[in-house]
Amino acid sequence: MIKKTILIMWVLLGTLKIAFAHEGMWLPTLLKKYNIADMQKQGFKLTAQDIYNVNHASMKDAVVLFGSGCTGELISGQGLIITNHHCGYDAIQSHSSLEHDYLTNGFWAMSNQEELPNPGLAVRFLDRMEDVSARVFADTAHLSGDALAARIAENIRSIEKEASDSGSFEATVKPLFYGNQYFLYVYQVFTDVRLVGAPPSAIGKFGGDTDNWMWPRHTGDFSLFRIYANKDNKPASYSPDNVPYKPKKFFPVSLGGIQEGDFTMVLGYPGRTSEYLPSQAVAQILAQGDPDKVKIRDLKLSILAEQMKRDPLIRIKYSAKYASTSNAWKKWQGEMKGLIRLNAVQMKKDYEARFSQWVNADPSRVAQYGNTLPRFETLYSQLAPYTKAADYYQEIVQRGTDILSLAAIFDTLEKRWPSLSTAEREKMKPALLAHLNEYWKDFDQATDEKVFAALLNLYHNDVDPKFQPEGFKKLISSLSPTDLQTKIYRKSVFANQAVFEKTMGQLNDQNLKKLASDPVLKLYRDLHDFYATQVEPMFMQLQQQIEQNQKTYMGGIMEMEQGRPLFPDANKTLRVAYGKVEGYHPADGVTYTYYSTLNGIMEKDNPDVYDYNVPQKLRDLFAQKDFGQYGMGNVMPVCFTASNHTTGGNSGSPVIDANGNLIGVNFDRCWEGTMSDIMFDPDRCRNIVLDIRYALFIIDKFAGAGYLLNEMELKK
Ligand code: ARG
Ligand code: GLU
Repeated sequence: MIKKTILIMWVLLGTLKIAFAHEGMWLPTLLKKYNIADMQKQGFKLTAQDIYNVNHASMKDAVVLFGSGCTGELISGQGLIITNHHCGYDAIQSHSSLEHDYLTNGFWAMSNQEELPNPGLAVRFLDRMEDVSARVFADTAHLSGDALAARIAENIRSIEKEASDSGSFEATVKPLFYGNQYFLYVYQVFTDVRLVGAPPSAIGKFGGDTDNWMWPRHTGDFSLFRIYANKDNKPASYSPDNVPYKPKKFFPVSLGGIQEGDFTMVLGYPGRTSEYLPSQAVAQILAQGDPDKVKIRDLKLSILAEQMKRDPLIRIKYSAKYASTSNAWKKWQGEMKGLIRLNAVQMKKDYEARFSQWVNADPSRVAQYGNTLPRFETLYSQLAPYTKAADYYQEIVQRGTDILSLAAIFDTLEKRWPSLSTAEREKMKPALLAHLNEYWKDFDQATDEKVFAALLNLYHNDVDPKFQPEGFKKLISSLSPTDLQTKIYRKSVFANQAVFEKTMGQLNDQNLKKLASDPVLKLYRDLHDFYATQVEPMFMQLQQQIEQNQKTYMGGIMEMEQGRPLFPDANKTLRVAYGKVEGYHPADGVTYTYYSTLNGIMEKDNPDVYDYNVPQKLRDLFAQKDFGQYGMGNVMPVCFTASNHTTGGNSGSPVIDANGNLIGVNFDRCWEGTMSDIMFDPDRCRNIVLDIRYALFIIDKFAGAGYLLNEMELKK
């Protein structure tokens, strides 16, 4: 028997080691300094230069920021990229109608000519990144406040201007560690990106919002696109003369499969994390922010769900809206549970106690950091009521209903119209028209007016009366929810496409003036103007003070932790996460295996449940065990879990094995670990990955588009 103290020591050391094993979204340029030794110890066979190199082709050249918030990767020498089905969703939906329902039936181009262009969709390649802190902070030592901010902004502008090389590149300087450092990112932007293939939603979104954020998972969440370039292989806007782009690098695709414990690495564009918040911020998210937003979306989603069940056309129109509303809603719920289970607020307090001890050990530190933690206490308690008002405003007025979002556009337009020149007016018309087309295509009045009435009532009930305009309070108190629909909503020009087009057919002074008496526009203006003048300024001022204080706190943490690698919070720039293929224990007495198979799809199969209605063709392939070279004997792998630290934006990210081959496409996280945006738990935080063999199987055996595999480099 091991002696008790030794056992305790061993357990402690064990957890400490694990605690830092897989957390982190690392900067590709600093892997050599901070991570590569550890990565190689965990099984990685290549070098830091194989991942990021400015002089030679490296993995970074095979990864793109897909659209505005996803990742994609090159899998052929002819510009073919794979990303998630949910990342291609808008594109797939935009080509869909009741006659060509690509969402339901899938889409497969059988030749380059059949690929579909997507105006508005762009992919970005990172050409290079570099630490420009010294240049950003140049000549700022003697400045403070607004003068300091102005000088930093000016320095940033000149760095970006120089790096853009007269417009050939997109150059952005971004703060890291809350502005303790700045990095320059230089991108090449391609805008001719065409849809090549997408499985039916019954595969690409299998499990839908029921299984979203959950393991075990069986979603074939992928879609294929192709980047086109001009004859010189350079970015060019769409033209039938463009040719498939020849990338510097693409990922070989592994047919070799995965084993538990295998090294995995994820390259991608994680959007936003907040790992260095103080205890007060975490407490507020838990007690107020997450519960408020969940409550508002509960109400909206229940109305949408009912309407979508009623009518297949409403289902098509609202499926993307439903998915995007429910996605964060479900994540917030997992996040709350995870933070509570981790005792995150106490862990933050313990860390702050350690920080205070470190500060108090040295008078110069006391001078610099002594006020930081007490200031958070004051600032966050001042912020709480404003956050509540802001959350309700954003969730309800800004993005709660279709009609208010349209009113918002016309509110701005009407206000700006008199100051616009004729040329400016003409110039903005096409974009506005395109937006309106999209808007009406996905609009259903009966659905939206129900949401409108319900959400505005909630606003009235829940928001502190001092944060509501008088006119709004009077109006809502005097009307029933039905009145809100009949007397306000239906009386608006925004409620009906035909009326709208008749009234607003021409954009001119006269038509825009009519809007002044529109009941929905009036209501929107009342809410908006009040918020913009009575709530937002103070909210922003407090947030700025918190940011400033957070920058100081972060600087202190960096000083205290010197010698230990720290990763900056995600900010939609290229990062590398690494870990292992592994399952986890979601709860006491429960173990999850690290992979799922087609058997699980068949177990879930239920034609009566929309999310689990398996296509007949897939049932047939399963029955025949016709898995080709993609199966493991007579089992077809579908998804797996790994311990890579990822977040929103990592969707579509390449999941790479020890030899640099593509083994999967990242698409989600496990519910028990969604608090990793705030606090990572190595025992429970897992990313969910589509096994690349399932994607190949669907392309080849299910869709009969096996010709696409010819351009890939398949590794046995
Ligand atoms: N949870 C994943 C992410 O955050 C997938 C979202 C799309 N899927 C869905 N069923 N809504 O983006
Ligand atoms: N599905 C997410 C995305 O769209 C990735 C999941 C996560 O948040 O980790 O980026």
